[in-house]
Amino acid sequence: MPKIAAQNTVYKNLNTPQLVEFAIQNGEGVLSQNGALVVTTGERTGRSPMDRFIVEEPSTSEAIEWGNVNRPFDSDKFDALWKRVDTYIQERTHHVSDLHVGADIEHYLPIRVATETAWQNLFGRNLFIRPEKFNPKGKEQWDILNCANFVCEPERDGTNSEGCVIINFAKRKILLAGMRYAGEMKKALFSVQNFLLPEKDVLPMHCAANADANGEVCLFFGLSGTGKTTLSADPTRYLIGDDEHGWGKGVVFNIEGGCYAKCIDLSQKNEPVIWDAIKFGTIIENVVLDENAVPDYTNVSLTQNSRAGYPRDFIEARVEENLGGEPKAIIFLTCDLTAVLPPVSILTKEAAAYHFLSGYTALVGSTEMGSGAEIKSTFSTCFGAPFFPRPASVYADLLIKRIEEFGSQVYLVNTGWSGGAHGKGGKRFSIPTTRAVISAIQSGALKNADTVHLENLNLDIPKHIDGVDSTLLNPVDTWSDKEAYQQQESDLIAQFTKNFERFDVADAIVAAGPSKA
Ligand code: ATP
Ligand code: OXD
Ligand code: MN
Repeated sequence: MPKIAAQNTVYKNLNTPQLVEFAIQNGEGVLSQNGALVVTTGERTGRSPMDRFIVEEPSTSEAIEWGNVNRPFDSDKFDALWKRVDTYIQERTHHVSDLHVGADIEHYLPIRVATETAWQNLFGRNLFIRPEKFNPKGKEQWDILNCANFVCEPERDGTNSEGCVIINFAKRKILLAGMRYAGEMKKALFSVQNFLLPEKDVLPMHCAANADANGEVCLFFGLSGTGKTTLSADPTRYLIGDDEHGWGKGVVFNIEGGCYAKCIDLSQKNEPVIWDAIKFGTIIENVVLDENAVPDYTNVSLTQNSRAGYPRDFIEARVEENLGGEPKAIIFLTCDLTAVLPPVSILTKEAAAYHFLSGYTALVGSTEMGSGAEIKSTFSTCFGAPFFPRPASVYADLLIKRIEEFGSQVYLVNTGWSGGAHGKGGKRFSIPTTRAVISAIQSGALKNADTVHLENLNLDIPKHIDGVDSTLLNPVDTWSDKEAYQQQESDLIAQFTKNFERFDVADAIVAAGPSKA
C-alpha cells in the first residue's frame, strides 16, 4: 500500500484498494459496514446546470443549440482558468487514470482523468471503461481536469459561481472545478459523446440496456428518476448499461463501464441486484450511516439524490462485451405525476417520434441543484435535454431511422402515479407491477396483444398483462372521481399540445400525439 507522500506526488492508475486507502487516509470518506466507501459532497448533491458551459469556438459553434442547457464560455477565459486549475493540481498530490468511454472499437474515446481527490478518481475507474483490449494509438485523448476543492472567482474566471463544468471540443478538454458531486464527470463525458456520435451516424441515447439469454436487447429511455437503473438491473436478464448508450448500425454499445444508482429507499427485496453491488469498491455519495456504520437509505437529510457508483462487473448477470445487437423493444419511461398515462402503451413509429420529442415526465428536483427539492412535471426532449448539445431533431431523426431500419417496437411505460395525481390521493406504481409490465414487453407478449384505443390520449393499451391487475391498465378505471380524471386528462393534453408547438415536424407526427376532440 503506497503511503501518502509529504510532497505533492502524482499517482497513476492506482487500483481500487489503493484509491480507497488514499481516500480514507485523506479523510475523504469512511467505509460503511457493507464495505462501500461513503463520501459526502457538501452543498452540491446533484448536477449544477447553471454552472455547465461549452466553449464557444468556430469549429463547433454552428452545430450547437445554444441556450439554457448549452451555455457559451469564452475560449480565452477557458484557457486562463484551465491554467489556474492545472497549476493548483500540480502543486498537490493528485491522481491520474487512463480510461475510455465507448465500448465500441470504432467509437471509443481514450480519456485521462486527473482528480484532486482519490475518491473521484475511483469514481472515474468505476464509471468509465478500464481499457484492456483497446489500443488508444491513433485516437486522440480527452483530458479531464477535476479539482473538487478549487474555488472559482466568477468576476475573474467568467464562471457563474465558485464551481463550473466546462467542455472544450476544439481542445478535447473538460474542466471541473469546485464540483464534488461525481455525477458531473460522467454526464460531461456523455455530453461529449452526444455531440460527436451523430456525425458518425451513431445515435447517442440517455437510456439503459439489457439483454435476455438469447441476446435480444431492450432499451429503457428516461429522464432522471424514471427507473432506468432500477428496471435494467433485472435478476432475470443480463445488463449492458444503466444510463448512456450509442446505437450504430448493427450494435448498441455502452458508453460507460459502470452504474450510478439512486439509493433513496433502496431495499434488498425490490432491488436485489443493486443491493448486492454495494460492497467494497463501490462509492456511496451522501448516504447517511447509522451508529453501526450501516447505510440508512431512508435517511434523506443530506439529499434525496444519494447515489452508489460501482463498476459493471459488480453485477453478475451482465453482457461481458458491454454491447449487444439492435433493440427489438424500446421503452420510454415516463414518471407521470398526473396519473393520466397508462402503465403501458404501444406506440406507432410516429407516436414514438412524438413522445421522444416531447419527453414528458417528472423532473426529480434533487438530481439538479436549483430546481427545488420537489418533483414536478416537465418536458425534456429526447428524455435527457440537459445532455444534448445539438438540436433535438438531430437525435429524433436518427432514432426514427434506426427504428425503421431495424423494426424495433416502442412502448411508453408510466413508472409514475396511478389512481390520482401526486399529492392528491394517488400512488406510484409499485416496482413489482412495473417489472411485470416490462417483462411482458420483453417477452413479446404485448406486440400482438388485444388492445383498446384511448381516443383523447391517442394511445393503444393492452387489455391484459400477466401478473398485473387489469383494472390498472386504463387510468380512468383507477380514479374514483371520474370527473376529476377527465379534468386532469384535459389539462395534460393541453400541456402536451402547447409544448409541441415548438417542433416543426411532419403532420403525421403531430397527429400521433394526444388531442382533445
Ligand atoms: P438517473 O438518470 O438519475 O440515473 P434513473 O432513470 O436511472 O435516473 P433510477 O435510479 O432507476 O432512475 O431511480 C428510480 C427511483 O424510483 C428509484 O429510487 C426506485 O426505487 C424508485 N421507484 C419507485 N417506484 C418505481 C417504479 N414503479 N419503477 C421504477 N422505479 C421506481
Ligand atoms: C442526471 C442523471 O444527472 O440522469 O440527470 O443521472
Ligand atoms: Mn440511473
